[in-house]
Amino acid sequence: MTARIDPQAIKEKLTTETLGRSVVFREETASTNADAKALGRQGAPHGTLVLCARQTAGRGRRGRSWLSDEGALCMTLLLRPPFPPELAPRYIVACALGVCRALRACGASARIKWPNDILANGRKLCGILLEADASGFVAAGIGVNVNQRDFPADIAGTAGSLLTATGRAHDPNDVIARILAECEPLFAACGDEAGYAALLESYQALSLTIGRRVRIFAPGEEYDAKAVGLDPLGMLIVQRDGGETRVVGAGDVTIRGAIDN
Ligand code: BTN
Repeated sequence: MTARIDPQAIKEKLTTETLGRSVVFREETASTNADAKALGRQGAPHGTLVLCARQTAGRGRRGRSWLSDEGALCMTLLLRPPFPPELAPRYIVACALGVCRALRACGASARIKWPNDILANGRKLCGILLEADASGFVAAGIGVNVNQRDFPADIAGTAGSLLTATGRAHDPNDVIARILAECEPLFAACGDEAGYAALLESYQALSLTIGRRVRIFAPGEEYDAKAVGLDPLGMLIVQRDGGETRVVGAGDVTIRGAIDN
């Protein structure tokens, strides 16, 4: 019998100072991101962790939905950046790196597909959706496939879980505590130039995308390129076939060829 999400167990495992010091747990909710945004508007503090056992209308990037089956971990962190709002995209990079490190600590050979999908053995273990509120806070939603063995037919070829990547079941409360422990110093580094430069380097070292040939699906155009790096906000720099350098901030990127991590 695999462990269930338990706010008390999480509190006992926490090593963080700010993240997860306030936990809001609901057995069932539509979306932890929507809940975190509502709590943010009511003044909930930085680091508030919103969790649920079942999410019925999980939101994915680019207006997609997010499957939240049995075995999935759905969580959102409420972040109040101590730096100017235009730097908030730094949290996208920090969150991807923190979750990737946490999943590696759980034994998965996890790497990051730009901007913030976490894959192992070519399969997506985690998706991240950051939503900024006009009042300045950010809802960082993290969906991790923890203990699923199977997936619906439409994603069966591309989705994986910590269980399928490592061959054993995981306690979701451990996974949460690890994610918070990895993310806390990275979120703090987002407000510091030297710290953020080091963070970008660490992200690039775990990137599946940088150095690879990619196909870019941008609004209104589609082209082949090579991913060559990240700009200071974490946007992808690509060298388009034919020579021109572009910065990609939106749209989809597919990696060409096999993903062999
Ligand atoms: C993606 O499209 O890859 C991002 C998926 C993000 C899903 C998580 S699950 C917890 C949080 N609540 C949501 O409604 N979405 C995010």
